[in-house]
Amino acid sequence: MALLIKNVRAIDPSCDLDEVVDIVIQDGIIKEVGQNLSIEKGVTEDYSGKIALPGFFDMHVHFRDPGQEYKEDIKTGSQAAVAGGFTGVATMPNTKPTTDTAELVSYQYEKAKELGICKVYPLGAITNGLKGEHLAEMGSMYNAGALGFTDDGHGVQNGGMERTAMEYSRQFDALIISHCEDEGIVGKGVMNESPISDHLGLTGWPTLGEEIQIERDIELAKITGARLHIAHITTAKGVEMVKKAKAEGVQVSCEVCPHHLLLNEELIDSKYPVNLKMNPPLRSKEDMLKLQEYFIKGDIDCLVTDHAPHAEHEKNIHFEDAPFGIIGLETSFALIHTNFVVNGKMSYQDLVERMSIAPRRLLHTEPVQIKAGSKGDLTIIDPDKKWTFENKDIYSKSKNTPFKGYEFIGKVSDTIVDGYHSYQDFKLAK
Ligand code: DOR
Repeated sequence: MALLIKNVRAIDPSCDLDEVVDIVIQDGIIKEVGQNLSIEKGVTEDYSGKIALPGFFDMHVHFRDPGQEYKEDIKTGSQAAVAGGFTGVATMPNTKPTTDTAELVSYQYEKAKELGICKVYPLGAITNGLKGEHLAEMGSMYNAGALGFTDDGHGVQNGGMERTAMEYSRQFDALIISHCEDEGIVGKGVMNESPISDHLGLTGWPTLGEEIQIERDIELAKITGARLHIAHITTAKGVEMVKKAKAEGVQVSCEVCPHHLLLNEELIDSKYPVNLKMNPPLRSKEDMLKLQEYFIKGDIDCLVTDHAPHAEHEKNIHFEDAPFGIIGLETSFALIHTNFVVNGKMSYQDLVERMSIAPRRLLHTEPVQIKAGSKGDLTIIDPDKKWTFENKDIYSKSKNTPFKGYEFIGKVSDTIVDGYHSYQDFKLAK
């Protein structure tokens, strides 16, 4: 099937493209990018006023499949992803059972492939059951398609175990993704440790609990030569450690979530808003503002959502007892576009670097470009559309988001995966 996209502004810094063009996609591959193109047979659509970008990729989502499909499954997670403009995602292994075998990696791969909504790349656990005790079968998971390894949800507490995982990962140059949380220091912390947590009577989750593991893992990456990626970074000091290590030649990168860029602990009040509880927690306003700076400058490599669906009955309880995490796929682009791109703080080129190019580069997946020969994975946005985020915009099975009622400028209108619409004209197509 051929698809001709007419009159779209296509932006792709990887091939120095920012121009109003036509794009022909045939059998899943971009055939031609240029002016006044035509096709003999197929579908032609006019995208005047819209912008085409290389398909977004979120390297940190939780799809809960297998085991907790009442929160999310591969189908609904994929639908939420394409509604947010993502043509690819990497899923975290804290499924039930843990994704710590080749079979479980293959199960997710195959299920996603069969559905054909969005590309899903399962990440493997570092340790069996995320227990930190025995190294998981990283080699067989890698052969089954796991592009990286992580015990996300927990930090690997034992430095020797983390070192062994890093050494092992070098055999296939796979990414080690660190959820940095020293459990001895964090204890039962539920929000950032500060006078605000004291005032609210909530146990603090100190920045040190994160930074001490960032430091440890950078040192381990130095001696092992492994490729290290720091998950959901939340503090200026953490980013500064990553920056310094990069300058010394350590192979380290980091990611940030929209919520840590745009929300902070001051929003947590005596209403104890459970949708502001996530791990790591919202930090101080100072840290948030510094993260924005580092994100815009590119010291933070990429944007991820940490899409963490939880059912209403689990999440909507006392703050202390509620599970950590919020959904994020449907709002990620709109939050960044509204807050950084519309006001000129960040270019579309930089947005593409953080949301499309860097995650694929880090995971060693095939790059997606707007040029002949590339996979036909595109995200098309309406840059001027004003909208308010409501329940009807959520495709995830879970609705745990603090962003309901937020007003946005810019919305994903179409998500094209391998040449076919998974999301079309602001509606699901699959
Ligand atoms: O807030 C979070 N939720 N952080 C994590 O690291 C895990 C995630 C989850 O699985 O719910």
